[in-house]
Amino acid sequence: MIITPQLTGNIARSCHPIGCRQALQKQIDYVKSQGALNAPKRVLILGASSGFGLAARVALTFAGGADTLGVSFERGPSQKGVGSAGWYNNCFFKQAAEKEGRKAINVIGDAFQPTLQTQVVEQIKQAFGQVDMVIYSLATGRRDIAATGESFRSVLKTTGEPVEGYTVNLETAALEWTKIPTATSEETTHTTKVMGGEGWQEWIDALLEADALAPGAQTLAFSYLGPDLSAPVYRFGTIGVAKEHLHATANHLNEQLNTAIGGSAYPVVAKALVTKASVFIPVMSVYLALLMKKMKAKGSHEGCIEQCYRLFASKGAGATAILDEDRQLRLDDWELDDALQAEIAQIYPTITPENFKQLTDFNGYRHDFMALNGFELEGVDYQAEVDMEAMAALKP
Ligand code: NAI
Ligand code: NA
Repeated sequence: MIITPQLTGNIARSCHPIGCRQALQKQIDYVKSQGALNAPKRVLILGASSGFGLAARVALTFAGGADTLGVSFERGPSQKGVGSAGWYNNCFFKQAAEKEGRKAINVIGDAFQPTLQTQVVEQIKQAFGQVDMVIYSLATGRRDIAATGESFRSVLKTTGEPVEGYTVNLETAALEWTKIPTATSEETTHTTKVMGGEGWQEWIDALLEADALAPGAQTLAFSYLGPDLSAPVYRFGTIGVAKEHLHATANHLNEQLNTAIGGSAYPVVAKALVTKASVFIPVMSVYLALLMKKMKAKGSHEGCIEQCYRLFASKGAGATAILDEDRQLRLDDWELDDALQAEIAQIYPTITPENFKQLTDFNGYRHDFMALNGFELEGVDYQAEVDMEAMAALKP
């Protein structure tokens, strides 16, 4: 079967397994080309199959020599399609890690379900005894609570006055004028249920209860704040309110872990990047494409893998984490550089559907999205048949 990209709006309907393997290999090669990390050796990653969770897993395994258990919600090949990129990332990650003698356990399922939590805790006890670090990197639009039958959906809206602006449509490679309405208080509460800290708290409770956290264990969750420019959509958006809850949870977990095992918890405020999740945030895309252009020009551009390597190599995560006065680990330091943001704030209002391909790094933005799904990678023959029987035989 020959696999071609299929896009509907900002959703990829297909992925290229061999390209996913190549994209993963590029991340592995990058961290191996850097120095070895002094980092935790037994790590649980929630949301391990793509984006920041996968990059952290690659850095810890291939530069830090860690054994990992990764939880994710992905689908394999079936009558309906080739499956999701994250599925292949899991399969190929496991192969590569095991080749180096590292343990790499994948658990596929809904991380919000207590039954899955129990299963994972048992596997940790069996395979690792305890873990030294827990990384919370879930990005999703939905959380179901089995016990009550409730189902929460997150929305990407503002909590202030309605916002208007351009958004990238990846399918048409054009800008579209978008209106972001004000969320109802119920929508904000539901978004917080999904993307706030409750799920993180449940995991740490379950792990502590089962004595599955090693003395001094750390937990971190990825977060974002962003500049004033995107504040109406992000910081003062429903997602920003959810992140505030996540940060409050970090403070609570920090006290809880400190008391119980001498451990700690903190949010990692990362930079804006193209991921499966972030392309859905309206208006952010134009800012991000502009940010990419300016950071590349300055030589400070990073992807998930560079960010995650720096997290452990220079920001002390897993050892003595370097935190700001609000107990946040900042990986957005280069994004929020004053001179850079001043330049961006000046250019942003001048962007139009006619000039955005010149003023922003739209091509780079689009390329990164394609690469997430295994397309446009160097060294992959896209004219070649993909052996789907072999792909179906892969195990996560
Ligand atoms: P992603 O979409 O690449 O990864 C999300 C992961 O969560 C995947 O492994 C997916 O399988 C897993 N997942 C989703 N629902 C699940 C469920 N119910 N059960 C188990 N696994 C589930 O997203 P990305 O961008 O890496 O996001 C991770 C975190 O990083 C989020 O908290 C996000 O807000 C944060 N972040 C993202 C930034 C960006 O620009 N992309 C910037 C800063 C923070
Ligand atoms: Na992730």
